[in-house]
Amino acid sequence: MTTIRKAVFPVAGLGTRFLPATKAVAKEMLAIVDKPLIQYAAEEAEQAGIDTLIFIVGRTKNSIIDHFDKAYELENELALRNKDALLKIVKDTVPEGVNCVFIRQSEALGLGHAVLCAEAAVGNEPFAVILPDDLIYNDGDNCMQQMVDVYSKHKASVIGTQTVDMSESDKYGMVGGPKVEDRLSMVDEIIEKPAPAEAPSDQAVVGRYILTPAIFDILKTTERGAGGEIQLTDGIAALRKSEEVFAYSFEGMRYDCGSKIGYLQATVEFALKHDELADEFKNYLQALDM
Ligand code: UTP
Repeated sequence: MTTIRKAVFPVAGLGTRFLPATKAVAKEMLAIVDKPLIQYAAEEAEQAGIDTLIFIVGRTKNSIIDHFDKAYELENELALRNKDALLKIVKDTVPEGVNCVFIRQSEALGLGHAVLCAEAAVGNEPFAVILPDDLIYNDGDNCMQQMVDVYSKHKASVIGTQTVDMSESDKYGMVGGPKVEDRLSMVDEIIEKPAPAEAPSDQAVVGRYILTPAIFDILKTTERGAGGEIQLTDGIAALRKSEEVFAYSFEGMRYDCGSKIGYLQATVEFALKHDELADEFKNYLQALDM
């Protein structure tokens, strides 16, 4: 299999850092300006040639299912009122030829467990994993497209990484290994949330992965790790013992929209790039007396 056709979106986490906003609404439905995080993630996958979107959802996530469903009444109303541009926006939520699959993760046992829930829908082929709260912006090829290109060349699992300050290593999965080419390294070590002294390098895993299906059998026997959760990082650490795994330092700006500050940064920067809002918003920011 040379192409990546399927992407898994694990969106069953509790989103505790955004309570009470996420008490009844999925964190991934929070909007950056006018588009929910989950839609940015879906578009990134679609632009990378992926046509099957597999959402691992939890209890408060029905709005995600509704978002990707056909909205007959709304579409009818918009058509009757000749709101063609808005009608197109609503219809384009799921472009022609793209299929959505929804799977419930009944208990939030961790990211590794959420990925394992996708096994039947993915089958025996390599697949992408995208965490929508890591919003990544790039002027050129998007992050997943860059990673699909790496996969096409090396035919092995690829993890998206970014340089972080070592003092932040305990917030991330951290990887280390020899450099292979520009932006690409082998993964020799991968550790979930190590203390700075234990981190193998300053390369942190962010929410983009391409994984071979061998990960599923490994996740079935992966024990609970950091935070008492079944960690994808621990599964990947086991995978690299039997297969090559690469770390790819992608081109692009990443916003950690799972944190309040990252969410605000993304909101400001996307508003400053927005066709309708940019000028007005810039004037507003300049007029703020800070
Ligand atoms: P986070 O660590 O960001 O957790 O999960 P969270 O629950 O979403 O948010 P906080 O920390 O409580 O505020 C990383 C990703 O893994 C998914 C989350 O939805 C998020 O996309 N996840 C995590 C699952 O799908 N299932 C889980 O059991 C745990």
